[in-house]
Amino acid sequence: MAEPWRERARQVGWVLLPLRAFLAIVFLDGGISKIADPRFLDDASPLSMHASVTAIRANSPIGGALGVVQSHSVAFGVAMAVAELAVGIGLALGLFTRIAAAGGMLLALSLWLTVSWGASPWFTSADVVYLFALTPLLIAGAGWLSLDAWLDRMRAAHPRDDRTRRALLAGGTALVGAMVLGLAALSRPSHRSRRQRQIDTALPSQPLTPVGDVPVGGAVQVTVRSADEPAWVLQLQAGAFTAFDARCPHQGCIVDFVSAADGFACPCHHSRFDPQGRRLDGPAPRGLTPIPVRVQDGDVRTR
Ligand code: FES
Repeated sequence: MAEPWRERARQVGWVLLPLRAFLAIVFLDGGISKIADPRFLDDASPLSMHASVTAIRANSPIGGALGVVQSHSVAFGVAMAVAELAVGIGLALGLFTRIAAAGGMLLALSLWLTVSWGASPWFTSADVVYLFALTPLLIAGAGWLSLDAWLDRMRAAHPRDDRTRRALLAGGTALVGAMVLGLAALSRPSHRSRRQRQIDTALPSQPLTPVGDVPVGGAVQVTVRSADEPAWVLQLQAGAFTAFDARCPHQGCIVDFVSAADGFACPCHHSRFDPQGRRLDGPAPRGLTPIPVRVQDGDVRTR
């Protein structure tokens, strides 16, 4: 009986390899980017864990339990980043894969019940997809190309020489390495923080679009510096120009301008924003980031 089951598990391991690799990258990226972004743990920043929890509490079905997270947001933020790193490393190495999958499912479930609870339709939430994408690894384990499989082989070949501790040490070293990487990234100004500073203060005035290209009662999409910095420039009334970062504060999709009456809509999880960029509904934790602009020499420019 045991052999066919092992054989099946081996085959499943190959089939699961792309999924395991993808999920490992997602969790490693999530953990490292949290550690590397100084705003995530800065309670004063609108991009912090504290600001996100404050914004989502009222709409979350577990909002009552989020009070403790809100008042200890730095501790919970660090714990979350480390947990994501640990899950990513567990999946990447195939070490204690079922435990890593269970931890990842817990993280995805908590994010689904909070950050992406307002997604509409509900199945468009990425977190609910991650939750179920991890179930095959919870059930079948990692299979091939994993430390779990190597440990199984070693145990069968050398019953008296348990190498679990050595494998654990490898996993722990990888976790510390990933945290050091994140902290090293933190010591350099990140792309996102540079961008925020540009929008907030330091952008030397630069033209965004000729005035004539922005229809009265409409909007035109522009780029602030490069294609990965999209923005909307609006002229809701003749001669009155406003601009917003076009990236949705939820997960960064480019929002669509609907109309001067209906404002903006995010195509990914259907957050909506009024023409002044304020959040109306959906999972976005706050409104669109405004970009101060002025008119000079026939152009709408950043201030
Ligand atoms: S609502 Fe999720 S990215 Fe906009």
